[in-house]
Amino acid sequence: MHVQRLRGQYASRLHGEPQPSRPPGEQPIHVSAGGPLTFDDCGESFRLALEIFPRYFPEFKFRGFCTSSCLMDSRLDGLLSPASIIVRMQRELYLYPGLQGDNQQIYHRVFGWGVTDINSVPWTTSLQRAVGQYLNSGGHFHGGYCFILKDDFCWGSQVYRRTISHIQKETRS
Ligand SMILES: CC(C)(COP(=O)(O)OP(=O)(O)OC[C@H]1O[C@@H](n2cnc3c(N)ncnc32)[C@H](O)[C@@H]1OP(=O)(O)O)[C@@H](O)C(=O)NCCC(=O)NCCS
Repeated sequence: MHVQRLRGQYASRLHGEPQPSRPPGEQPIHVSAGGPLTFDDCGESFRLALEIFPRYFPEFKFRGFCTSSCLMDSRLDGLLSPASIIVRMQRELYLYPGLQGDNQQIYHRVFGWGVTDINSVPWTTSLQRAVGQYLNSGGHFHGGYCFILKDDFCWGSQVYRRTISHIQKETRS
């Protein structure tokens, strides 16, 4: 999420311009292209948004952050190193499956805008190699949705993973 961008989107409200429609209580996450994005910067962006929104938009009662993105496809967790920022971000959020079935967003985001044949471009990063090999072996990406509730925010604690493993442990015993 990029706080400057969020502020930009909402700045139109201050000028009485038409507002983007979105479900009440949800704040969109946007990751600007171009990185590098560190894990700590990402947490700091959430922390700043939690501070800024109540101050500048007190009438906006948001409950949490959400987005949908090819970067939130849970398959990436199995394909990339656990040290990857994408994987570490995913693990901080509650993920659920997306519905895109044609791999198009991942083609554009990972191999370049306009690329329709991934084998026609060089694979220079570990993400490109992992995704490319997966697609060439018949794999598909469907993208993903994610959210983190404001009250659950504790960057670095993998709050939802901890809750789920706790429930699984209780169910087993
Ligand atoms: C989010 C983002 C900044 C993360 O980049 P990062 O900090 O390098 O992430 P990771 O540590 O997980 O990267 C792991 C590897 O994948 C590569 N990688 C990351 N994003 C990549 C991309 N969009 N295309 C190609 N390779 C990418 C990295 O260079 C790294 O390669 P290496 O191991 O060979 O050095 C980056 O993916 C990006 O700019 N994405 C575009 C924006 C976007 O997709 N937004 C989603 C819409 S909400």
